[in-house]
Amino acid sequence: MTILITGATGQVGGATARALLAQGAPVRALVRNLAFAQRLEGAEIVQGSFEDGASLDRALTGVDALLLVCADHPDAVPHYVGVLERAWAAGVRHIVKLSAIGASAYSPVHLMADHHALDERLRAGPSGWTLLQPHLYLQNLLRAAAAIRKTGRLSAPMAHDSLPLVDARDVGAAAAAVLMDPAAHRGKTYRLTGPKAISYDQVAAALSELLGRPVEYEAVDPHDWEARLRVRDVPGWRAFDLAHILYAYEPPDNAVSADFEQLTGRPPTALATFLQDYRADFTGA
Ligand SMILES: NC(=O)c1ccc[n+]([C@@H]2O[C@H](COP(=O)([O-])OP(=O)(O)OC[C@H]3O[C@@H](n4cnc5c(N)ncnc54)[C@H](OP(=O)(O)O)[C@@H]3O)[C@@H](O)[C@H]2O)c1
Repeated sequence: MTILITGATGQVGGATARALLAQGAPVRALVRNLAFAQRLEGAEIVQGSFEDGASLDRALTGVDALLLVCADHPDAVPHYVGVLERAWAAGVRHIVKLSAIGASAYSPVHLMADHHALDERLRAGPSGWTLLQPHLYLQNLLRAAAAIRKTGRLSAPMAHDSLPLVDARDVGAAAAAVLMDPAAHRGKTYRLTGPKAISYDQVAAALSELLGRPVEYEAVDPHDWEARLRVRDVPGWRAFDLAHILYAYEPPDNAVSADFEQLTGRPPTALATFLQDYRADFTGA
């Protein structure tokens, strides 16, 4: 059995590959930049990308199960469809796709509409499939770490909503659990959340405790946030999605899910544990 992981140098793909390798599973990783492949010791590395069909065919040869992960991209739909069609042609029996809670044809957030279109495509395809839908990652807080160190302020367009933020390492652990026994998870969609819905006000309070000095939360208007990102040269499509992400979630989307614990047998990572694990990022020590 060979398991192919795409996005293997990223947060979720990397965590999945490491969890599978630790269990002795045969992992093949599609990697764009070989310099990053050293983080995947024990995996078979195939250099390539979603845009390079020949590299995909090489990577997909003899593969039984595939984890489909990629960075968000304005051409995500044609990119993913290209991989799906090649995987089906290669006879891959099971495809696990990283999607998102909030994926919807009607979402104003482009990446959520893209995920929905791709999830539907996978469901209608000839292979077995499993969809993993995480809520927002706790790791998104790391983007604010430098500003928190410098200004003592956590700025974000998250209003005061309570969101069950999930650790990306847990998403990888859930993906590994599915890939170790794909038949048991055929045709299932799992919603992956943290153990509790928390507001960014609560995140700021936890950061204050961690750092031993006040961290204040600034709830930024989404349009202002989008403008701030554009000034920092974030591409327009990305700035829009990041700034308006809260509009992707209806109230039921912010409920805590038991799926992670069912898949892995342990509770999801709590905010306090995440902050301790990434303490150096927030303290700069
Ligand atoms: N952030 C959130 O809160 C959140 C929540 C729910 C769902 N999601 C979903 O999670 C996914 C991203 O997962 P992640 O955070 O693990 O990603 P990530 O850390 O940003 O890593 C992205 C991976 O995709 C690879 N990649 C990018 N473009 C590629 C291409 N053209 N061909 C092949 N590989 C390519 C990257 O390779 P390089 O190392 O070479 O760049 C990297 O390995 C997205 O689909 C997003 O919608 C995110």
